[in-house]
Amino acid sequence: MRVAVLASGRGSNFEAIAKAFIDGKIKGELVALIVNRRNAGAVERAEKLGINWLFVDPYSFPSREDYDRRLVEILKYLKVELVCLAGYKLIVSEVFVDAFPGRILNIHPSLLPSFPGLRAHWQAVTYGVKISGATVHVVDKGVDTGPIVVQVAVPVSPEDTPDTLSEKVLKWEHRIYPQAVKWFVDGRVKVEGRKVVVEGADYGRLPVVPALEDF
Ligand code: GRF
Repeated sequence: MRVAVLASGRGSNFEAIAKAFIDGKIKGELVALIVNRRNAGAVERAEKLGINWLFVDPYSFPSREDYDRRLVEILKYLKVELVCLAGYKLIVSEVFVDAFPGRILNIHPSLLPSFPGLRAHWQAVTYGVKISGATVHVVDKGVDTGPIVVQVAVPVSPEDTPDTLSEKVLKWEHRIYPQAVKWFVDGRVKVEGRKVVVEGADYGRLPVVPALEDF
């Protein structure tokens, strides 16, 4: 399967996914990284790892739909079958979602449906939850609302700040995202409405549900 990653910033999730391809843990090809910010840290990581990258400037398009149409054109030209949003700070338009139905994944640093949108860790710490985490989901037309593939639960201590919580959760993100991509590439992910089933996976224990197998 041909996979692309879209990122806007630091790119640590991109790197975790890229390394899983490079190490041969995920069978398939990581075709490209696309960034919407010229100075995204993800670019430097792509350079180091030898992954092709591309900067497409949203400001050179009259609308988000036009920008997304261009991205779709590029991704289709590259014959990409799975798109992974990894710290991609733009909301994808209908144009994009319709072009890859059920074939776009995103990672969000909370236990969805709690704390969608911006500043998830700040939301969690401010609310006072005792368990937070991260979610990999299929992207639909809402913001962080798509069917859930995998979640990890991470304890929140009274001393935690958004930054310390982010650090703890990020370590898990780097495991659950490559795992979700691998399940997808291996054809084990079945989406029926809101329900996603990873065939043959273990749904019986915490902190990661379904349980990690390869990461
Ligand atoms: C991650 O916490 C991810 O869950 C969120 O944005 C952050 C991106 O981090 N969507 P990185 O760019 O992958 O390091």
